[in-house]
Amino acid sequence: MEEKTKSYSNKDITVYWKPLLCIHSAICTKGLPSVFDANKRPWINIDGASKDEIIEVVNKCPSGALSFSLKEGLTFEKEVPSNSEVTVSILKDGPIIINADSKVIDANGNIHHKKGNCALCTCGLSKEKPFCDGSHYNKS
Ligand code: FES
Repeated sequence: MEEKTKSYSNKDITVYWKPLLCIHSAICTKGLPSVFDANKRPWINIDGASKDEIIEVVNKCPSGALSFSLKEGLTFEKEVPSNSEVTVSILKDGPIIINADSKVIDANGNIHHKKGNCALCTCGLSKEKPFCDGSHYNKS
């Protein structure tokens, strides 16, 4: 699976968005609407908040569609909790969310190394299997 990635940069941070992995949880748009606004183009205003505020919201993205990198020499000020305990969440009529780096082996034996969160399709409708692409919203 080739993942299309869009990027949004300023002097401190680059935010990456993989639209095919987005499950439209709206955690970003509700969490930081000054940066993430689905009704605007571009939908990410990278200058709408501080890098630390952006990082906090990006780290909450349940599918891993959002990620970031910092410009050289910059660090994230807030302490990141230990990731020793993996959280797996099963969403009602939606994907299984894994909140950790993971190695996902699909039905064909292909191995996908995922950094951060990822969402696994349970409905069978995703065009990006084994990952959720939000198609479960169209299931009636
Ligand atoms: S669970 Fe989201 S597309 Fe299948």
